Amino acid sequence: MNKPIFLIGFMGSGKTTLGKKLASYLNLDFIDLDQVIVKHIGMSIPDYFSEFGEQKFRELESRLLKEQGRQAAVISTGGGSPCFFDNMEWILKNGIAIYLYLTPKALHNRLQQSNIASRPALKGLQGDALLQFIEEKLNEREPFYRQAHIQIDQLNTSLHAIRQSIETHQQHL
Ligand code: S3P
Repeated sequence: MNKPIFLIGFMGSGKTTLGKKLASYLNLDFIDLDQVIVKHIGMSIPDYFSEFGEQKFRELESRLLKEQGRQAAVISTGGGSPCFFDNMEWILKNGIAIYLYLTPKALHNRLQQSNIASRPALKGLQGDALLQFIEEKLNEREPFYRQAHIQIDQLNTSLHAIRQSIETHQQHL
């Protein structure tokens, strides 16, 4: 594998957890783009959003995505990463994109059990308002996510099946 593998998908779809497992299964390094950003800015993402705004965050995210995406590794991106500037085009050209798909209901269940405060986009949302937000945002973002080379049903997959999809994709290049 000489290209990076980008895991893309909505907040709470399990990009980081699956990314770590996939990296070790494929014997590749693992990079978490959010973590790279946090290290770079020296503060949490919610703090950065409130101090500098989303636009600045997106500019930095795009720059760091393209810097990190030069190595063969499994890279888990942020939920918004493919949806700004030319990021998705860049991902498709420079790596293999895997979309981790989950229904809004499943995302809702998972996000309710997660630390909402760590995600500025979800600030103050819970219950039905959270579900409605997920439905709307996912609708807006799916045109980007769905361009991925490989689409995976997060609830019904295995590392073996993902590796096979990657190999099949590479044979068709
Ligand atoms: C965001 C998702 C987050 C993080 C930031 C913005 C988004 O990453 O990049 O809070 O706009 O969907 P996760 O998908 O890892 O939560």
